[in-house]
Amino acid sequence: MKQTLAFDVYGTLIDTSGVYKTLERSIGAETPSFMEVWRSKQLEYSFRRGMMNTYVDFAVVTRQALDYCCLYFKKDLAETEIKDLMNAYKVLPAFADVKATLQDLQKEDYASFAFSNGSAQAVTALLEHTDIIKLFDGLVSVEKTKMFKPNPLVYQHFNESTNSEKGNTWLISGNPFDVMGALSYGMKAIWVKRSDEAVFDPWEMEPTAVVSTLTNLKTILTTYPM
Ligand code: LAC
Repeated sequence: MKQTLAFDVYGTLIDTSGVYKTLERSIGAETPSFMEVWRSKQLEYSFRRGMMNTYVDFAVVTRQALDYCCLYFKKDLAETEIKDLMNAYKVLPAFADVKATLQDLQKEDYASFAFSNGSAQAVTALLEHTDIIKLFDGLVSVEKTKMFKPNPLVYQHFNESTNSEKGNTWLISGNPFDVMGALSYGMKAIWVKRSDEAVFDPWEMEPTAVVSTLTNLKTILTTYPM
């Protein structure tokens, strides 16, 4: 049976630190910590909303995490600055290894999908902007489930939407919580360890494989015993 690849978007294909320059104009020296808290609050809010059953579009989660950071770092940003930051999030760059990897995988017999907490509209715009949309067989957003990763219903929704089975599906993600969500549901999962400092949560599970860049992905996939 055909192997199906589920590529996480933010932090795996798309580099969220692409907001850095826009942030620096408003935030100055505190930009690195502001950016880190923004991303971690965004994820925390998605987890909390999942537990509380209060789904909203991921862009709302991102905006509320930004508002939190403005309060926390005591930055009184003008509405135009907030707008610029939210717009920067819509045109984030792809990581340098993404396009060539996807082109290479296209020559093989895999079905490749983007799979994200982001809305279909937001993710489509990002993949179009980075000129990689044609390299996918499709896109699966969590929005129909009204849940976020790592709820198992979201991974099940991926399989149902792509006519695939968990035993033949690989999640590929730079986010340990996403890798763990997929493993726990029953997929195989590759962790893209995009920085030397990144730590995998020391729970009772390990990624099926770890790569430091997507460039090594095909080797892993083709050598893995099925
Ligand atoms: C996504 C977040 C989890 O794209 O990175 O789903």
